[in-house]
Amino acid sequence: NTPRLVDPFMRAVTYLRLSVTDRCDFRCTYCMSENMTFLPKKDLLTLEELDRICTAFIGLGVRKLRITGGEPLVRKGIIGFFEGMGRHLDSGALDELTLTTNGSQLHRFAADLYAAGVRRVNISLDTLDEDKFARITRWGRLPQVMRGIDAALEAGLKVKINAVALKGFNDSELFDLVDWCAQKGMDLTFIEVMPMGDMGEEDRLDQYWPLSDLRAQLAERLTLSDLSETTGGPARYMRVEETGQKIGLITPLTHNFCESCNRVRMSCTGQFYTCLGHDGMTDLRAPLRASESDAVLIDAIYAAIGRKPKGHDFDYSRQGVKGQTIRHMNHTGG
Ligand code: GTP
Ligand code: 5AD
Ligand code: SF4
Repeated sequence: NTPRLVDPFMRAVTYLRLSVTDRCDFRCTYCMSENMTFLPKKDLLTLEELDRICTAFIGLGVRKLRITGGEPLVRKGIIGFFEGMGRHLDSGALDELTLTTNGSQLHRFAADLYAAGVRRVNISLDTLDEDKFARITRWGRLPQVMRGIDAALEAGLKVKINAVALKGFNDSELFDLVDWCAQKGMDLTFIEVMPMGDMGEEDRLDQYWPLSDLRAQLAERLTLSDLSETTGGPARYMRVEETGQKIGLITPLTHNFCESCNRVRMSCTGQFYTCLGHDGMTDLRAPLRASESDAVLIDAIYAAIGRKPKGHDFDYSRQGVKGQTIRHMNHTGG
């Protein structure tokens, strides 16, 4: 299937990120506020509807599907959904079916995910210290996530760790994280913290750790070579020559990558976001439910792609935070 979704800036959309729930068993401070009100379950698209939407996107040239949340593995019946999507891998229509998870439920589901066709998972983990982990997630238990990571590796899944780079929080652990991932044969990606949802502005500015600094610190001890290969996402990778490990950097602030954006996002209620950095969205639930045929839905998708913004306006300056979105990260899963 050739890409049929091309935006006004001539970027082909081939990567769909689907949030299957806004719920999560953690409350990472940069992702959700402490007292989140979650959507009533009746507002969620059913698993059958999610399947129909994904299948429509795949028909329009999407080749990579990433399931997100909230925490995707807390959605009831989600393994059945993965199993269903596996048919698009079998037919060759989809190159990759994957997910981003906090790891808390992986000890239960890793083997099932592999059986459904998932080969790679991204697991969010910002610190190796149990107390700090409990603080950043507000109550998460690190040993449970460690168990999940081991289960994923045992099931044969390739694991990439996602760490949000936070000054005064995990900067002191930079090499611990790098060494730990290298030992376990996992890739590691650092992410610049983005201004999404309500937040203590001061905090976000204080926490912001530009990855240009992080890279310079790495280079003091390690030999880094830039790689041109990608995983189809926003990370730029380098190889650590000493260990062969791959480290990725996601730099929405210091090095905007919107020019090569290939991604769109869907919330669990059918709201379609064509840019992470904008609150503008198109409702796809009504067109989905309007008819058994996909024609209305596909028209709505085309129209929305025609409005995909050029990029985000995230910026931290001395004057404060700019380009902030109202919605929290858990609404569309990053
Ligand atoms: P790979 O398939 O491994 O490349 O994954 P990915 O980086 O596409 O997905 P993941 O869910 O691991 O996302 C990592 C981080 O990248 C999250 O913080 C996302 O919010 C961020 N991210 C993904 N796409 C975009 C984007 O288009 N714009 C911005 N600003 N951030 C993005
Ligand atoms: N800025 C950057 N990354 C974030 N994530 C969640 N909130 C933010 C934010 N404000 C990350 C999570 C997860 C990924 C989907 O997005 O840590 O790895
Ligand atoms: Fe949950 Fe992930 Fe958000 Fe943390 S970043 S609260 S684990 S959805």
